[in-house]
Amino acid sequence: GETLNIALVGLGTVGAGVIRLVEENAELIARRAGKPIRIAGITARDRAKDRGVDLSPYEWVDDMGEFATREDIDVVVELIGGADGPALTLAKECLSGGKAFVTANKAMVAHHGLDLAQRAEQAGLAFKYEAAVAGGIPVIKGLREGAAANRLSRVYGILNGTCNFILSAMEKTGQDFAEVLAEAQARGFAEADPSFDIDGVDAAHKLSILAALAFGTELDFDGIERSGIRKILSADIAQAAALGYRIRLIGMAELDGSNGDARLFQRVHPYLVPMHHPLAHVEGSTNAVVAEGNFSGRLLFQGAGAGDGPTASAVVADLIDIARGEIGPAFSMPVRELDKVARAETGHR
Ligand code: NDP
Ligand code: HSE
Repeated sequence: GETLNIALVGLGTVGAGVIRLVEENAELIARRAGKPIRIAGITARDRAKDRGVDLSPYEWVDDMGEFATREDIDVVVELIGGADGPALTLAKECLSGGKAFVTANKAMVAHHGLDLAQRAEQAGLAFKYEAAVAGGIPVIKGLREGAAANRLSRVYGILNGTCNFILSAMEKTGQDFAEVLAEAQARGFAEADPSFDIDGVDAAHKLSILAALAFGTELDFDGIERSGIRKILSADIAQAAALGYRIRLIGMAELDGSNGDARLFQRVHPYLVPMHHPLAHVEGSTNAVVAEGNFSGRLLFQGAGAGDGPTASAVVADLIDIARGEIGPAFSMPVRELDKVARAETGHR
């Protein structure tokens, strides 16, 4: 068509950010995408809620399922969250209803990404999730396309903006955990249930996605050993500093072996990071991902990992790709080509 018609499902931090971005950069986006992006329908739970953006230009529907079959919609953008429930139902309905699907929902991608990618492949539709990992950093594209020629041996980084914000603030101000968490929530970084952030679940969702992309393997969220930052006190941070370290919540994945005998090591834990390492200097809600490729060498992706603007930036990048006709596989290969891996109990190096 002459325009890319999208439906927005979920109008919270990220959804409202997408509306602002599509409006403010409309002309630039249309030129780069080759056609304008038009918001053809919106929905959330509460129609009356003030979202800080004017919704009057947009058509509200009460039943999100309508978007899966409406003739005038090309892409459905899911920004509600939750691994299962309405987000997953919507994704399946859209992919069987001929709609491309864009999401920021790492929980759903970590648990159901292969199934959804396979449905998209069978239907010849795009299934994209750049916003699901590391907010505004184009790390999905970076690993899947930018580093595609490499054998990647390791991928690791700071994958949760809320935890990094909390750890940085505790270090700087000596404030206690609860106060800083409230601040992260007020800024729109935290998950609807912040225990997903604090207990390392969100970082594990993201790590499983990065590992699959980096290594060309199937997703294995359940294979991630994890602990979060709930028990870390300001005193721990001070003790670490006295030894020359900072505490950072890090997701780490390594593939050991190859050719049908590969073992995957995946961990999310608070690590002591030496001051000379770049991850020690990642502050606030910033994320950073390091990937080591056999030809590229060490790649460092860094930028805003959460919040409305950065996350919207990634969502709209996916929409521009779709407008350009770039469908591509959702992971590094078609799903049936991805390697199965056994779990490794210990990492190497
Ligand atoms: P919010 O809680 O701010 O917004 C969620 C939106 O979904 C709300 O508008 C809510 O409606 C709507 N919603 C929830 N349940 C339903 C339902 N059953 N039916 C219809 N609408 C529903 O979340 P965020 O914007 O922060 O996050 C959205 C997604 O993006 C999540 O998957 C999150 O993990 C992901 N994400 C978030 C980032 C961030 O920095 N915030 C960064 C990267 C990804 P209502 O407003 O009416 O209650
Ligand atoms: N709650 C997530 C975080 C949002 O804090 O990183 C970005 O995915």
